[in-house]
Amino acid sequence: MLLKTEGVEKRFGGLVAVKDVSITVNKGEIFGLIGPNGAGKTTFLNCISGFYKPEKGKITFKEQEITGLSPTQLCHKGIARTFQIVRSFPKLSALDNVKVAVVYGGKQHKNPEKHAKELMDFVGFNAAKDVLADNLNTMQLKRLELARALATNSELLLLDEVAAGLTPSELPDFIDLIRRIRDSGVTIICIEHVMKFIMGVCDRIAVLNFGAKIAEGAVEEILNNPEVMKAYLGEENVH
Ligand SMILES: Nc1ncnc2c1ncn2[C@@H]1O[C@H](COP(=O)(O)OP(=O)(O)O)[C@@H](O)[C@H]1O
Ligand SMILES: [Mg+2]
Repeated sequence: MLLKTEGVEKRFGGLVAVKDVSITVNKGEIFGLIGPNGAGKTTFLNCISGFYKPEKGKITFKEQEITGLSPTQLCHKGIARTFQIVRSFPKLSALDNVKVAVVYGGKQHKNPEKHAKELMDFVGFNAAKDVLADNLNTMQLKRLELARALATNSELLLLDEVAAGLTPSELPDFIDLIRRIRDSGVTIICIEHVMKFIMGVCDRIAVLNFGAKIAEGAVEEILNNPEVMKAYLGEENVH
């Protein structure tokens, strides 16, 4: 077990955005979080990454309680994240964006430029290293975002809809990259809508609906679960 949440709850005023959510993620796993829009997926990930402090519940990472720690503290413990809306320094080159993450990512590197280039190679876009982030296309921005997250030497990577906006022809390479990141020793929790992505990469998934977890298990089993179908399609479509 690498990460465990127990009864996590996050409210916004009267709205319970995340309700009593418990999951267990094993080391080396790609764990998917799915559910309709507004189900609480991003909010739950924000609780794990320290952007929100849950009102209730406990989060444990590598047998250590991390509930309520700040994103910086969590980054230093080995938890990194990407954002649903890609964030970068638009007026810096792609390479400099990665270099900033290498320099401020918590681990010291003798040659940050060299390490940044290695990361760019790993995510597969050294060709665009001198392009300003402002001018990168969606696929390149996603790769940049992953390189920056990997620059922090994280053990757990939290991905919020990284496959969104990619064309079907870009998907196989991207799936391959996510697998290579996992194979390099990084455990991944990803929020995703793209079914091909979920079926192609996830080992296990959990389903959120109105803030609550309604299912958790192997991908096939979950996608055949009537309650999950109901959450997605509405009662009338389930027989
Ligand atoms: N910062 C916020 N303030 C108030 N309400 C929020 C905030 N963030 C999310 N919500 C609400 O919490 C619920 C869950 O949102 P979110 O976690 O973004 O869902 P998902 O990522 O599954 O689409 C939604 O009803 C949303 O409107
Ligand atoms: Mg979201």
